[in-house]
Amino acid sequence: MIKAALIAGARPNFIKIAALEHAFRQSGHFENVLIHTGQHYDAKMSDIFFRQLGMPEPDMYLGVGSGTHATQTARVMTEIEAVFLKDRPDVVVVVGDVNSTVATALTAKKLHIPLVHVEAGLRSFDRSMPEEINRMATDAISDWLYVSEPSGEKHLLAEGQSADRIHFAGNVMIDSLRRFEDRALATQEHVRRGLEAGSYFLITAHRPAMVDVPERLAIFADALLKLADQGPVVFPIHPRTASRLESLPAGRELMASEQVHLTEPIGYLEFMCLMMHAGLIVTDSGGIQEETTALQQPCATVRPNTERPVTVDEGTNILMDLDAEAIAAAGERALSGSWKEGRIPEKWDGKAAERIAEHLAANL
Ligand code: UD1
Ligand code: UDP
Repeated sequence: MIKAALIAGARPNFIKIAALEHAFRQSGHFENVLIHTGQHYDAKMSDIFFRQLGMPEPDMYLGVGSGTHATQTARVMTEIEAVFLKDRPDVVVVVGDVNSTVATALTAKKLHIPLVHVEAGLRSFDRSMPEEINRMATDAISDWLYVSEPSGEKHLLAEGQSADRIHFAGNVMIDSLRRFEDRALATQEHVRRGLEAGSYFLITAHRPAMVDVPERLAIFADALLKLADQGPVVFPIHPRTASRLESLPAGRELMASEQVHLTEPIGYLEFMCLMMHAGLIVTDSGGIQEETTALQQPCATVRPNTERPVTVDEGTNILMDLDAEAIAAAGERALSGSWKEGRIPEKWDGKAAERIAEHLAANL
């Protein structure tokens, strides 16, 4: 048995690690050690995902919490080094691009432990994004690079990675979506909230470039007020965004609007059900660009770039400027049914983690 340390720290990690944990266990080749760094810790940002995605309790919880980039990264490194020194895994698996990902990668490699990066090679080419730094640094030192879309392979080769380390496995985020979509549908969350399918907008926002700049967040809030003239707006608020919104006049206007449903973060199954039935999803998230493409649901990503170009080239995602009128116009197009058609990208078939488990077991 291969002892595999699976590392999860933040909300999108839990969804990806759930797919890997399941596939590794099913394969019979791995003994999983599930480690939660504690980067995200609120029940609605963490526990609910373990419960709904059928994951076991983490074997270890490092409790690193929030902090500046250096503080958070350093805490993960210190805590996880102690874990690896005490009980050395045969391989360390990291996913995505959050601080827990890069911190674990650096620590594992300095201890000469084989390192796997799942969702490797994505690039926005925007180094002002903390995730871009995390992705580049993690890829540079990983032994196995599993990519989710063809652009990943192209970027890694261009950066000088050798082809035999790179493997196009598909998208593990979509594995979880396919595995749990019936359960998500069964929640009937849109009905529970009194929403009519196809007539409401689902919103998320948490990128520092959007929510940490008051002038930009104010424009986004104004766009949501304009969307609210066309239909109900459901906005589960990320903890980074909550306090910032409260301090803006347009944010307070949002809170006062009857057409706007501001809520805490929503559970995975309920959120997926809301995505399945929304008229349009407006977001700056990474994962949601992929999930909407897999669900063939209209998505407007309010960002100047994406590290997930397949969602724009093949899927139902478009990139948008932060322009309230343009976002409102996208709302009209979506509700009138004239959004572009998309197709599901190659290997987004629910079997990516299975392919990774097989490939890794054969190659380690
Ligand atoms: C992190 C990731 C980002 C990812 C996002 C997913 C990094 C650099 N950023 O951003 O790539 O898209 O997660 O959601 O790793 N907070 C709470 N409760 C929690 C967690 C956070 O209140 O459970 C608050 C704290 O005030 C914290 C802030 O949110 O300071 C930001 O959390 P942090 O993990 O640093 O970054 P995110 O914005 O969540
Ligand atoms: N999500 C959720 N509830 C919410 C908002 C998001 O379950 O209220 C899920 C959704 O499936 C999304 C995932 O969390 O794809 C990732 O979250 P986030 O947008 O925070 O991270 P990113 O993908 O941008 O790193």
